[in-house]
Amino acid sequence: MSINGDSTMDLHGRSLLKEIDLSADEFRYLLDSAERLRDDKRRRAERPRLCGRNIALIFEKASTRTRSAFEVAAHDQGAHVTYLGPEESQLGYKESMKDTARVLGRMFDGIEYRGFSQAAIETLGRHAGVPVWNGLTDEWHPTQMLADMLTMRDHATKPLSAVSYCYLGDTRNNTANSLLVTGALLGLDVRLAGPEELWPSPEVRTIAHELAADSGAEITLTDDVFEAVRATDYLYTDVWLSMGEPPESWDERIDLLLPYQVNTAVMHAAANPEVKFLHCLPALHNEETEVGRQLFERRGLEALEVTDDVFESHASVVFDQAENRLHTIKALMVETAGD
Ligand code: CP
Ligand code: NVA
Repeated sequence: MSINGDSTMDLHGRSLLKEIDLSADEFRYLLDSAERLRDDKRRRAERPRLCGRNIALIFEKASTRTRSAFEVAAHDQGAHVTYLGPEESQLGYKESMKDTARVLGRMFDGIEYRGFSQAAIETLGRHAGVPVWNGLTDEWHPTQMLADMLTMRDHATKPLSAVSYCYLGDTRNNTANSLLVTGALLGLDVRLAGPEELWPSPEVRTIAHELAADSGAEITLTDDVFEAVRATDYLYTDVWLSMGEPPESWDERIDLLLPYQVNTAVMHAAANPEVKFLHCLPALHNEETEVGRQLFERRGLEALEVTDDVFESHASVVFDQAENRLHTIKALMVETAGD
């Protein structure tokens, strides 16, 4: 039974390993559930639906938002969490994913996994026997998509299906793959702008085009920034070098992606006074990070994927987006592993 009373949608026991594990209706249903949970929390009227549940949080890569969202959501809903960081389990060193899955599935009611290969989480999902939630792999970032679509819906003055967004930068990283496929699933106008060397794989593009044929989504993949951003509602970017990629690649990546930086000129090129800026975070937009400082000094830059003035502008809704990680991850846990 869902919190919004719609008993026709039952996601109990389901995993979210990648976006296409959900139908468009199921995806929208999770957004509705998240919105209701957010209202309840703000009214201090939240009813715990995960009492007595134990949730495992496996993180083989760093995290601020995803880990915090899972922990706070679990606590709000009455569940307990166990954090297993890169150094804190036998996983991968002395124990296979298949064996780990069968052990954790005996103890936990749900498992979050952030790691490298999608194949690893698919194995976990196949053998755990409890819901498994993808907190980011090299290929996909589906819990981010729930927050992103809720944020777009929150700030839009039209139905979500009429929204357009343009992602600029490394168009074949996890966030970009997920934005492409999610927009295609939900029937949005999705544009990706980046150099051809960094376009999504043929497999990901095929998934998106097949979904678009059903949903009516419009898909644009181009290296032309100004064509891509025209008349769009949201501009979105992500870090130019993702976790797990070699730091030696920074220079080459900066050379490739500097033309795709989100700056004031690019925001103006959207020709939409209401255009908003999104970023999954963390963002390299000023010198207040170690990585940013080193790169900016070496390359004589003041920002990487987004300039500080855009990041700090009224058009930027990145902190609403970050907060929505909590409400959407909570909805996912409640609907798949709750009462
Ligand atoms: N956006 C996101 O996944 O942030 P974290 O890496 O901090 O979890
Ligand atoms: N593409 C980024 C997303 C971080 C949330 C990464 O994988 O590092």
